[in-house]
Amino acid sequence: MMSDLNANEAHADGESTGTSNGVEGELGKSQQSGEIPPGPRGLPLVGSTLTLARHGLAFSEQLHKYGDVVAYTAFGEDFVAIYDPELIESILVSRNDEFWKGDFEMAFGDLFAPNGLAFTEGEQWRRQRSALQPAFTPQQIQTHADSIVEKTSISANHWSKRREIDLRDACSKLTLSILVDSLFDVDLNSDRGAVIRNAASAIGDLVDASGAAMVLPEWAPRTPTERRYDRVMAQFDDLISDLIAERREAVSEYDDLLTLLLDVEFADGSRMDESTVRDQLITFFFAGHETTSVALTYAIWLLSGSPSVRSRLNAELEAVSDGSGLTFADLPALEMTECIIKEALRLYPPISSFYRQPRQDLLLGNYQISSDTTLQLATYNIQRDPRWWDNPDTFDPERWQKEGASRPEYAYLPFGGGPRHCIGMRFAMIELKLALATLAQQMEFERITDTITPAAKGVLDPGCVTMRARPISDL
Ligand code: HEM
Repeated sequence: MMSDLNANEAHADGESTGTSNGVEGELGKSQQSGEIPPGPRGLPLVGSTLTLARHGLAFSEQLHKYGDVVAYTAFGEDFVAIYDPELIESILVSRNDEFWKGDFEMAFGDLFAPNGLAFTEGEQWRRQRSALQPAFTPQQIQTHADSIVEKTSISANHWSKRREIDLRDACSKLTLSILVDSLFDVDLNSDRGAVIRNAASAIGDLVDASGAAMVLPEWAPRTPTERRYDRVMAQFDDLISDLIAERREAVSEYDDLLTLLLDVEFADGSRMDESTVRDQLITFFFAGHETTSVALTYAIWLLSGSPSVRSRLNAELEAVSDGSGLTFADLPALEMTECIIKEALRLYPPISSFYRQPRQDLLLGNYQISSDTTLQLATYNIQRDPRWWDNPDTFDPERWQKEGASRPEYAYLPFGGGPRHCIGMRFAMIELKLALATLAQQMEFERITDTITPAAKGVLDPGCVTMRARPISDL
């Protein structure tokens, strides 16, 4: 069932896929001059940074009317939005070495964790990626499965005591507790836990504010959000130093990512220094918390709006377990659960767009792209494009069970693709499946918030989603 997700990963080694995408021949002629991509030059949208920050999804949809490769300006910089899955594949896979993450994404890295996996390039990135990969094998993730189920059950119990829940907030707390448990073994309700909770919210606030921050000149005074971030992260850094010292004394007692980071030995025998370990932890925090949190929020909200899907899910859960806690071994049987998650990630990809920049001027299709252009890979729009999806705006998890849907591989890319695809993809899918199934075993959800208007911030933010949650035993 994970085949569509793994398909993008299949080229993770970055090997060329030859001419299978049908564009390589053209792309190879980088000497040849091409056309300038069409775009809304001269229209009021052009250069409208605030429009982009506030109404990114609607803006992207409007741009798409110009074609599959569309030029625009924002934040005073040149962007080109890409809506063609085959061009996306060439950027991420077959010609990935001609692109880098680019100035736009690196600006985030400089704010958070310049030496973290998501923001390094070249040899430094390659060394880190292969050193960190062992933390994300199925065997390693399996060690966290029981804790995912246990933490979700505790949350379900907690949620059912309230008449109404703020689902976004509740999922954020649940996914934070799961992530913290796998990164470093700290009780979130302790004083140390408070430092971590503050760090998570400061990172979230800074990500949301960072679009605006990029517009400000470098000499502008730091904003209150940035000052709070600095203060909170100084405490977080102290905590990381203490945890590192403790792990160094008693490494064998822990089975978390922090221990793995400290154990990593590169080919030349060197180890990660403390500030790089810190940057990795922040990167995993940044990349692995709100993404899974909003994915779970959308999945629950979509599920609660579809009684027929819910009854099919109930049938699956009854067949899989007698109501006792789910385990890692149950995952293959949770097919409907997986379809719901995949469909939620299609309709509401937590990373609604991501970015690349050419290393030098090149041709993309027929278009000339200069090396200072940021390419926006428009996941949200591609995953709702009627050319690839029947009834694209409809929540239809069963579409994933139907054979024979022929669409380009990169018409679905919630976890990116190619060598830099999401390293946490398996972890996220296992977490989301176990969490959604455990919640559905124990409770019914009823929507209070009927309509969601997502905003493309650091993650695709659903805004406030209020729900009624009742334990199944009460029904
Ligand atoms: C539903 C949940 C998630 C989604 C939708 C998601 C999405 C993505 C996407 C689209 C990328 C590629 C960005 C690019 O190529 O520019 C990415 C990269 C990354 N993700 Fe995730 N992610 C999720 C969960 C996680 C989790 C749970 C972790 C870690 C615990 C994680 C860690 C990372 C890291 C470190 C990278 C950078 C990888 C590299 O550059 O080598 N993500 N993610």
